[in-house]
Amino acid sequence: YKSYSSFDPNFLWGAGTSSFQVEGAVQEDGKGLSVIDVMQKNPDITDFSVASDHYNRVEEDVALMAELGLKVYRFSIAWTRIFPDGNGEVNEKGVAFYDHLINELIKHNIEPLVTIYHFDYPQSLVEQYGGWLSRKSIEDYRSYAEFLFKTYGDRVKYWLTINEQDHVVRIPTRLGLTGDDHYEQLRLGYQANHNMCVATALTIKTFQELGIEGKIGPAISYSMVHPASSSPDDVLASKDAMLIKHNYLMDLHCYGKYSHMFWRYLEERNFTPSIEDGDLDLMKQYPPTMLGVNYYFSEAISAFPATKEYPIGYQKKALLPEAEAGVFEVVNNENLAATDWGWEIDPVGLRLTLRELHERYNLPIIITENGMGAYDKLEEEDVVRDDYRISYLREHIKQVLLAINDGVNVFGYCPWSFMDIVSGRNGMAKRYGLVYVNREDFDLKDMRRIKKESFKWYQKVIASNGEDL
Ligand code: BG6
Repeated sequence: YKSYSSFDPNFLWGAGTSSFQVEGAVQEDGKGLSVIDVMQKNPDITDFSVASDHYNRVEEDVALMAELGLKVYRFSIAWTRIFPDGNGEVNEKGVAFYDHLINELIKHNIEPLVTIYHFDYPQSLVEQYGGWLSRKSIEDYRSYAEFLFKTYGDRVKYWLTINEQDHVVRIPTRLGLTGDDHYEQLRLGYQANHNMCVATALTIKTFQELGIEGKIGPAISYSMVHPASSSPDDVLASKDAMLIKHNYLMDLHCYGKYSHMFWRYLEERNFTPSIEDGDLDLMKQYPPTMLGVNYYFSEAISAFPATKEYPIGYQKKALLPEAEAGVFEVVNNENLAATDWGWEIDPVGLRLTLRELHERYNLPIIITENGMGAYDKLEEEDVVRDDYRISYLREHIKQVLLAINDGVNVFGYCPWSFMDIVSGRNGMAKRYGLVYVNREDFDLKDMRRIKKESFKWYQKVIASNGEDL
């Protein structure tokens, strides 16, 4: 078959952020509260309310994107800026904010890539009817998305429906759930998951009926797992892990089906969601037309005998899931180095991930997140020497090109993140950006933007269309 030794001239070199991680202004100009805002009301790790102050610095930030040479910018819309209650009245100031951002991007020839919902679910919908646990959530999500398509669809061609649904359904606070009954939370999570899949399919239907020219699909957290050894038990466990972590959801999105094995898994645990007539047909009829892929690390998997005790702390972690008695356990991979947060760095894993997705689902792919969280150090004269990030990105980009050579249709790459964002779990200590934001967790300093060494390197990568790595 045709062999590619370089990236397509129209390859979309990008970078990404999400609303709650960069905008700040959590209660300004009529914005309603999201589940994230509620969770972070009494911050213990960082001050989220200002984030990276992007809400007040749009022009400056887009000018930096243009200087970097971005072809595409991935950002999310805060649902509660548009509909403070999640449904009902529209907040015109919120609508105007994204209108301005989109126009600024287009003015600089940067394609907007919009995530419709990235973790910051409206708290009011949780209070009105329990949020994603209720089927009422389906229509509210669809009509919010329809509003976005009608308002911005003349300028935005690429849309991401839900960011990392698999994480949302396993992190109780993201669903607005409280308490310690993790088993029950997981059971409810599978109902939320089903409702989100129906909402996604209905939204894709609306998108197509409106005749919007472009592509739409979920942003998935998807990464290949490796068996920890060649023991058949570990190989089996790794297959199970792949199904339970990733493929159950992709099969729903792309084929409208619960695989037999996964349905049995749900039945054995009393986790089966209630499904209405027509739900699966709808998903089958309106699959995504592209996939956004978030990839940070791979995982090594070994068998976890049912008789083995969970190590302390695992019961809670199992929600993610990092271990499940009788099924699998994530273990260290001694072949790989890890980040300061223990995320194992595996560029070849990205190539494997892309090939797996291509073989199973055969959709165009844009990498919507890939990056390295690190303790960056701002030195005198505003220098940040993040050579570790450059090397992380370089090795992953090489593997993207190899995957394209393998035949996978990858049309864009967005490192996470354009500028430093507040990390959901680790605040400002864990930085991801190409641009440094001068603040600490509780000392907001002057928020000035500083180009890291990785910014200058990525600028060359884009200018040479991936030749100069
Ligand atoms: C993804 C999210 O899960 O991973 C991002 O979509 C997030 O919002 C990123 O920032 C990195 O995770 P963390 O916990 O290090 O911020």
